[in-house]
Amino acid sequence: MTRRPLIAGNWKMHGDCAWTQSYLEQLLPQVEANGPEVVVCPPFTALAAAAVIVVGSPVALGAQNCHWEDKGAFTGEVSAAMLAEVGASWVLVGHSERRQYFGETDETAVSRAAAAQRARLGAILCVGETLAQRQGGETLAVLERQTRGLGGLDPARLAIAYEPVWAIGTGHNATPSQAQQAHAFLRQRAREHFGDEAARHLRILYGGSVKPGNVAELLAEEDVDGALVGGASLDVAGFSAIIQAAAGRMTSTR
Ligand code: PGA
Repeated sequence: MTRRPLIAGNWKMHGDCAWTQSYLEQLLPQVEANGPEVVVCPPFTALAAAAVIVVGSPVALGAQNCHWEDKGAFTGEVSAAMLAEVGASWVLVGHSERRQYFGETDETAVSRAAAAQRARLGAILCVGETLAQRQGGETLAVLERQTRGLGGLDPARLAIAYEPVWAIGTGHNATPSQAQQAHAFLRQRAREHFGDEAARHLRILYGGSVKPGNVAELLAEEDVDGALVGGASLDVAGFSAIIQAAAGRMTSTR
């Protein structure tokens, strides 16, 4: 089967409302309804401004995190329902920066994904090994641990992003064969939890120094179904070029 590529831009802590508006006004004319699925993930504070612009367009909005409870005394947190209310349809969970700086664990990441799905959002669950873990030959063991909770999730509202920590923001992307090896393992994990059919439909994105110049060769791999793009997504022309490369993958004969 052919999975529709998913290209998501993770703006991280960049983008005020005015910048968001101008960015999206430039991006929208370049995104085709029948092309790859396109998601932009601005900071929480720009979601409402972004929603006004993307409404009715093929560009979907994602948030960068959500809490695992639906409501309660959790000062500073944002629930998935709140994100849905302002127009988000996706949310990133378990990003390595959340794991590194904010105490995210494999368990909390999956709990957040479950909360997102309860609010009818799609969850993009981020996983990936550190450099030390790769050098220690632990990559697949780490991915196995990070996907233990998959069985509690709905595969229909899920994407997995394989983001090796050593490739994020470093300019050193994984090679296509390193990505494919990890993605094939993740699809096998999905098969174990969800069965063959759902695993076949699941999009597994690659993230970590994706750029217009390297995305085509990554997407050419059998199990690489899209990209989660950080730095390069902040430039409209670069992000559009990445979307175009994914559109090319849809029409290729692979
Ligand atoms: P990068 O970030 O593209 O800047 O490496 C990817 C990410 O953190 O999702």
